[in-house]
Amino acid sequence: MTGPQLDPAAQFKQQAAVKAASLVRDGMAVGLGTGSTAVFVVAELGRRVREEGLRICAIPTSDATEAQAREEGIPITGFAEHPDLDIAIDGADEIEPGTLNLVKGRGGALLREKIVASAARQFVVVADNSKYVDHLGTLCPVPVEVVPFGWESAAARLARLGAHVAPRKNRDGSFYLTDEKNLIMDCVFGRIEDPDTLSQNIYNIVGVIEHGLFLHMATQTITAGPEGIRILH
Ligand code: 5RP
Repeated sequence: MTGPQLDPAAQFKQQAAVKAASLVRDGMAVGLGTGSTAVFVVAELGRRVREEGLRICAIPTSDATEAQAREEGIPITGFAEHPDLDIAIDGADEIEPGTLNLVKGRGGALLREKIVASAARQFVVVADNSKYVDHLGTLCPVPVEVVPFGWESAAARLARLGAHVAPRKNRDGSFYLTDEKNLIMDCVFGRIEDPDTLSQNIYNIVGVIEHGLFLHMATQTITAGPEGIRILH
């Protein structure tokens, strides 16, 4: 892949992305993630489609990824044609190496990302090596997607679970809306000792659509850093 000079973090993202894209084979239905690492996955798959004649179809996890995939010449499909996907490749905000549990959704695409990941036989996570954490909740907030109606009530209940809750806003101060036209509550829980219980407690709040704890879903993570590529299963 040629192009502008990348900073080291971007180079690591690209290395992990290219490695993950090499897992994609002819005939596969592929889930395409969202974010700055997933951009490299889509670019590499597009290159393989054009230069190697790779035949795939894909379900993107955001409008932005769909636009990129179409530009790259990757055929887009839907769940009617492919209720099950062969593979999904996506980035992450936090990776717990012992469990492969993740926090995702800083890019706001967590709902579609979780639907796509859960439909995939393999869910491969790509990142630079800055995303490793000993415990989830230490690097970034857990995003929680809620319907706009009654969001203040959902936010108050999230706070009662121990979170500092901030509705995500755009630069102009307006509420950030997901591709599904919902709101995001960024929830700082601090170090999360029991993610499974927290996940269930968040789901129990009426008005919550989805949250960014991706537990027991990743089948492998591919990360890159100065020490090279690291693959965990
Ligand atoms: C978007 C996501 C991204 O995959 C996650 O935020 C990682 O992004 P990046 O690769 O830019 O670090 O979950 O909703």
